[in-house]
Amino acid sequence: MEKYIINGGNKLYGSVGIQSAKNSVLPILAAAVLTDGKVEIINVPQISDVKNMVKILSCLGCDAVYEGDNLKIDSSSADSCEIPSALAHELRSSVFLLGSVISRFHAAKIAYPGGCDIGLRPVDLHLTGLKRLGVKITERNGYILCKCDKLVGNEVMLDCPSVGATENIMLAAVKAEGVTVIRNAAREPEIEDLQNFLNAIGAKISGAGSGTIVVEGVKKLTGGQYLPIPDRIEAGTFLIAAAMCGGEVSVEGARAENISSLIHKLRENGCKISMKSDTIILENHKRLTSVKMTETQPYPGFPTDLQAQYTTLCAVCEGHSIITENLFETRFKYVPELRKMGADITVINRNAFIRGVERYKGATVVAHDLRGGAALVLAGLSAEGRSEVIDISHIDRGYSSFEQKLRSIGADIVRITV
Ligand code: EPZ
Repeated sequence: MEKYIINGGNKLYGSVGIQSAKNSVLPILAAAVLTDGKVEIINVPQISDVKNMVKILSCLGCDAVYEGDNLKIDSSSADSCEIPSALAHELRSSVFLLGSVISRFHAAKIAYPGGCDIGLRPVDLHLTGLKRLGVKITERNGYILCKCDKLVGNEVMLDCPSVGATENIMLAAVKAEGVTVIRNAAREPEIEDLQNFLNAIGAKISGAGSGTIVVEGVKKLTGGQYLPIPDRIEAGTFLIAAAMCGGEVSVEGARAENISSLIHKLRENGCKISMKSDTIILENHKRLTSVKMTETQPYPGFPTDLQAQYTTLCAVCEGHSIITENLFETRFKYVPELRKMGADITVINRNAFIRGVERYKGATVVAHDLRGGAALVLAGLSAEGRSEVIDISHIDRGYSSFEQKLRSIGADIVRITV
């Protein structure tokens, strides 16, 4: 088990670079199973979700290896359509492989996926979409068993704009016979990134980023190199850290347009934010004021993956605020930990009612999931005194070199093994 020891109170100054987006790299890795061409993904974060996805690809018979910060995948020898349950349970994105594996083998066997414990996280939309393309699915003893004679393009209407379901159906449709139209598709930047990767290796997809995606089935894909978009959630996390601790921080290699909802909020809170090319600069030297209401929404609304970090900031703003989590049923598990640090937050169903306090007090807290864990680190950085954040393996799933990057801008944080 590992933990962070944090001595709070340092202002943050300097610049941090942003990793390639975790939530782009994961579906792109799944997409690599679709082609016998060699694929190289550039600037891949060394995070445990990616490492587990690489293990799954290896179990399928793909050759997937890190070369420095790049990841080389050769799926030409892929020979298995079964994803080991132990690995499937490790991460949500294991389910994205359904579309690719079915496309390649016309069969797939996978246990229900794992991932952050932030809600029920069903896969019904994934399965309904795959059935529309001709897949026969049975669910037995915790496994999803799929088979089909062939995949045939069709119209798929999603009940809600699910990111994973959109991506899974895109992957299954790439080499299907005919055209697939996905309506009420998710519009996250990572969906557009997946489309761009697939088109770069020979697919014919359009419309990603809008609510309607059209996939024209092709016979064959090639290989190639690809640089995914920067991680907008990592960028937002560092901006919130700077806002809470005070100072001036430049987040380099970030796309401001992908987190415009957060930038708008932080400006309302009183932060000074400027952009130049792919750098976002946040400056703050005072106690922030609260913004009354914030609701998480599918993109381009306020991202659920920044909810914990932003709630943590709101809890030390001047005034009251309400945060509503519309996407996941139980994404406030970090709040009892923040209360140990002095936060005045009451959670009722999907709403967090916040009365801002002056400052957090250092305490020992436990990370329960990826973004909630990152939020506790931010609280510790701005707190008075010493904090410990326990079970930081959750944070390692999505942030590479997290403490190193924070130390490089002045934070007093170390990782220790207990
Ligand atoms: C992706 O998860 C991201 N993960 C999540 O990021 C992110 O929070 C989420 O999208 C929303 O933006 C990856 O990309 C690997 P959804 P996903 O399907 O695909 C319901 C992080 O911290 N739903 O868009 O699982 C679901 O219950 C992670 O990086 C169904 O009802 O999210 C939820 O309420 C956490 N049936 C809503 O849709 C389904 O079949 C949105 O889920 C699928 C989803």
